[in-house]
Parts: sequence; structure tokens; C-alpha cells
Amino acid sequence: MKILMVCLGNICRSPIAEGVLKHKLDLAKLDWHVASAGTNGYHIGEAPHRFSQKVCKQHGIDISNQRARRFTKNDFEEYDVIYALAMDVYEEIRKIGGTHAPMHKVKMFLSELQEGSTASVPDPWYGDESGYLPVYQIIDQTCDAIVA
Ligand code: 4NP
Repeated sequence: MKILMVCLGNICRSPIAEGVLKHKLDLAKLDWHVASAGTNGYHIGEAPHRFSQKVCKQHGIDISNQRARRFTKNDFEEYDVIYALAMDVYEEIRKIGGTHAPMHKVKMFLSELQEGSTASVPDPWYGDESGYLPVYQIIDQTCDAIVA
């Protein structure tokens, strides 16, 4: 199983989702592949945001080696499940995929926590450090649901 976590910048939310899900899969001894990407190209090659790194580290997860990359059309072929962490991201994924994209592979991340949900993980980019813990917590709960 190959899973891709997608947000806008690939520096705040999806790196946390990649790190947390990998950690839980390790503990569950499941050999799935997890990666992340962003629909915009503003931060390509950058490490995760320092507050994303910090909140993960506080929970025993090191995401410092991740580097931002852009979501591409080829990812539809590479991955079995593509999680959009927000509705604007879902729409961007659809645009990048074009008319024949296999959109059945794309799910709203929070729909794993609550079936049918189209809710978005809040974007902590424009706020201060206090926004990162709630984001971590909702991602953590959702990753528990994915592993279960
Ligand atoms: P992310 O947060 O999508 O969770 O990585 C953002 C990071 C950067 C920008 C937007 C969202 N940006 O516009 O640069």
C-alpha cells in the first residue's frame, strides 16, 4: 500500500501527517509506504516548518529529514491512496490531474475520522505556534483511524 499526504506547501500539515502515520505503521509492524507533497511550489526543497518539527519532536517523532516537493500528475499512478488535507487542496489535485485523473484514489483526510466528512485540517501557516498542537492532535487521531 502506498499512501501520499497532500497539503498546499508541504511544510506544515502534510509533513506531520507523513511522520505520524509512518510512526504508527512502524509500531503496528505494517510495511506501507508513506510520503507527502504540496500542490504549490513555494517551498520546494525546504525542511518542514520549525513548529511542525517541534510538535512532532515533542511526541517522539523526528521529521527533520523530510524535504518539500510538489504534487505531480504522475503521483496518481505511483500511489494507491492520496489524502487531501483540505478542500482547496482537493480541488488543486483535481486540476493537476485533469479530465482523466483517477479521482477515486483521492480522499479527504478527515473523512477517515468521520465518514463522509469534507472538513479541512486547519492551516497553521498564517498563525503562531499555538496553532500547531491542535493540528498535530487531529492528525494523530486520524492516523489512528487509518491504521485501525
Ligand atoms: P501547509 O501550509 O500547506 O500546511 O504546508 C502552508 C505553507 C505555506 C503556504 C501555505 C500553506 N504558502 O502559501 O507559502
